[in-house]
Amino acid sequence: MNKLKKEFKNAKFITSAVNPSGYPNPKNDRGELLPEIAVVGRSNVGKSSLLNDLFQSKGLVKTSATPGKTQLINFFTLNGELTFVDLPGYGYAKVPLETRKKWGPMIQNYLAKRDNLQIVLFLFDIRRLPNEEDIALMSWIKANGKPVLLILTKVDKVTQNQKRIAEKKIKERFQEESPPSIYYSTLKREGRRELIGWICHHLKEEDPAHGGTVSE
Ligand code: GTP
Ligand code: MG
Repeated sequence: MNKLKKEFKNAKFITSAVNPSGYPNPKNDRGELLPEIAVVGRSNVGKSSLLNDLFQSKGLVKTSATPGKTQLINFFTLNGELTFVDLPGYGYAKVPLETRKKWGPMIQNYLAKRDNLQIVLFLFDIRRLPNEEDIALMSWIKANGKPVLLILTKVDKVTQNQKRIAEKKIKERFQEESPPSIYYSTLKREGRRELIGWICHHLKEEDPAHGGTVSE
């Protein structure tokens, strides 16, 4: 997996899918199935933007100011060594009910059935507080036994002081379900190195720059 150590770019779009029959099974040049990392979160929280920032790609992952942009499960590979999955966001009332009804099972099916899924990145807007739906999804994901990193997004919208207070409140709401967390801003380019450090740590990769600290 030494290619990952060099740089976190060279991302490629592989395919979009709805059902397990449509999921791709990308392999590395040694013929092994790639470890996979999924990005989960409420609609408009910044999932697709975070992937672009991580990949250092401008438009590879489609983003939008209008919630509900990502409607399918999108698969990307990075350096031919790792797969990233951009999931549709949950919880946006303006997406038609019929569409939303399909998204819940689509996301849960993916999270429950994907064997090579290694890490779940749970994105949460630093300006919000978790509601029942967020807490239920978090505990369901954790019950599935995958390592979860809570990524507090859009931190450029709050002051340093507000950041700490908001983090504390969000974690209190998630209670014992609360996983380790980092701050992220695609605008200020905050969090990228730390996220790479965390991913490398969990995949038992060496991070050449520095690991970055993750608050428990
Ligand atoms: P869905 O696909 O609808 O679930 O949304 P998403 O979670 O993929 O969000 P997306 O990346 O499309 O971003 C939604 C909006 O948030 C866009 O207008 C982005 O420009 C904005 N956004 C994303 N990241 C940040 C950030 O770090 N700071 C600020 N201020 N805005 C951001
Ligand atoms: Mg999206």
